Amino acid sequence: MTARILDGNALSAKLRSELAAQAAELTARGVQPGLAVILVGDNAASAVYVRNKVAACEKAGIRSLKFDYPQDAQPAAVLAKIAELNADPAVHGILVQLPLPPRFDEKVVLEAISVDKDVDGFHAENVGRLSQGQPAFFPCTPHGVMKILEYGDIPVTGSDAVVVGRSNIVGKPMAMLLTQAGATVTVCHSKTRDLAAHTRRADILVVAMGRALAIGAEMIKPGATVIDVGMNRFPDGHPQAGKLCGDVDFDAAKAVAGAITPVPGGVGPMTITMLLANTVESARRAAEGGR
Ligand code: GUN
Repeated sequence: MTARILDGNALSAKLRSELAAQAAELTARGVQPGLAVILVGDNAASAVYVRNKVAACEKAGIRSLKFDYPQDAQPAAVLAKIAELNADPAVHGILVQLPLPPRFDEKVVLEAISVDKDVDGFHAENVGRLSQGQPAFFPCTPHGVMKILEYGDIPVTGSDAVVVGRSNIVGKPMAMLLTQAGATVTVCHSKTRDLAAHTRRADILVVAMGRALAIGAEMIKPGATVIDVGMNRFPDGHPQAGKLCGDVDFDAAKAVAGAITPVPGGVGPMTITMLLANTVESARRAAEGGR
């Protein structure tokens, strides 16, 4: 069997053109969606992610504001900027790129963002709302995965889903969204005793370990849907050394899986797409006078 490829680039292009139309409609009503992005420090990967987010906003007709702070910035300065953006009616979304430099308390910074502008879905109140099945801004990467499953016609209700990784950004909210959608969910992590025993049972396997090629074909149930959230480089000595790869050994896995996301071009573009979606949704709420 060769797995069906779940193409995140194609789905992103479709959804982003719909979002651009919605942004244009809101702009015509006098409410152009606006996203403020805060980048602190000199993490090279973060700088690339932020650049991509800003470019995607521009392309969709969303106004973007970018604020850069040096590695030795004072937390108080960033918190003051967040307070200013919370009060600015032209700003509908505020995103602080993670990770922050070590002197920052990430929790304090994330909680400073107004719940109504928390388009990353990282504020404790949005996390609580998600866990209770209330309307909330969902974190962008797991939300993007749910869209891939939806548009890929992958049945979630009643499925056995296994999530590998328990981060606040991906693993935990992913497990909550899958649970909400009716899957029976197992969360595995670095302390899991027999990872393969769990992954081999999964109808839907979502991998967010951050370790290149950690999931081989022998860890996948034949016909399963495999969603690879990893973004790594092939290791030295590998024929494709230096090129991007996921946490799943794609070439081996695609012979066993029923459907699979590639890296790049799978989950990655969907993260930004869902950020745009949350920002447009926030602007729509503002345009309708309620939040
Ligand atoms: N760092 C890694 N992923 C993300 C994300 O989705 N949002 C933010 N703000 N920072 C991140």
